[in-house]
Amino acid sequence: MSQIAKELLYTGKAKDVYKTDNDDEYIIKFRDDITALDGGKKDTLSKKGVYNALISTKLFEVLEAEGIKTQYIELLSPDEMLTMSLDMIPLEVICRNIATGSLVKKYPFPEKKELNPPIIQFDYKNDEYHDPMLNDSIILALDIVSQDALDEIRQITLKINRVLSDFLKSKGLLLVDFKLEYGFDKDGNIILGDEISPDTTRLWDVDTLENFDKDIFRKGEDGVVDAYRKVVDLILTDDEKDKWNVKDIE
Ligand code: TYD
Repeated sequence: MSQIAKELLYTGKAKDVYKTDNDDEYIIKFRDDITALDGGKKDTLSKKGVYNALISTKLFEVLEAEGIKTQYIELLSPDEMLTMSLDMIPLEVICRNIATGSLVKKYPFPEKKELNPPIIQFDYKNDEYHDPMLNDSIILALDIVSQDALDEIRQITLKINRVLSDFLKSKGLLLVDFKLEYGFDKDGNIILGDEISPDTTRLWDVDTLENFDKDIFRKGEDGVVDAYRKVVDLILTDDEKDKWNVKDIE
């Protein structure tokens, strides 16, 4: 653990959040734990944390370069990210470009149907209630955020979708769907937080539609970490791979 890390603030399913000496900054440690099916399926996969930290870092940097504010400050070590401290909003903001997963289980969409415009969906981040889907009225009635904040979250999410879809397509990957979480900084600005990794996105090969994401684990197949590694290989530059000694990660 880095020298500046102080006190464990929160342990999630795959990440730990630490306070630092500076109230404005946290350290997020990406662990090797993986869960699916509402926590019903669990495992620990060596190096998954490092790959997710590297992928999230790269994608946050791509977003920052396009003017999208994220909580990312810098990668301190291969699995520890220094971030801005945020007051997190308990929403899972899901954006879908292609119908798959729970969408085709719950609604009569054909598998792989292109969704244009993309679908944005809000789930309540609440384990006790098993993350139920929300709508604007429920979000306002529960006093989660204001309508203005919700509208802004939708706009930012659509911009993130455009930027990341273009970037990933240039690397040979289709951004099928993904989940984002936002928080407020100390001035009340809405900032993208959490992670963007193959744990929280579906990424398919543009040609073969082979998946490189947590669906491999959901389906109980082997090769989860190899797929995450492949994403690292595809999206990081050679300099970035050298900086983090990717070739020595076994
Ligand atoms: P969804 O199809 O609802 O997931 P599942 O098939 O696991 O029910 O998920 C859409 C996308 O959002 C997918 O890339 C996974 C991501 N996601 C999360 O990261 N966390 C979540 O709690 C949920 C519901 C989705």
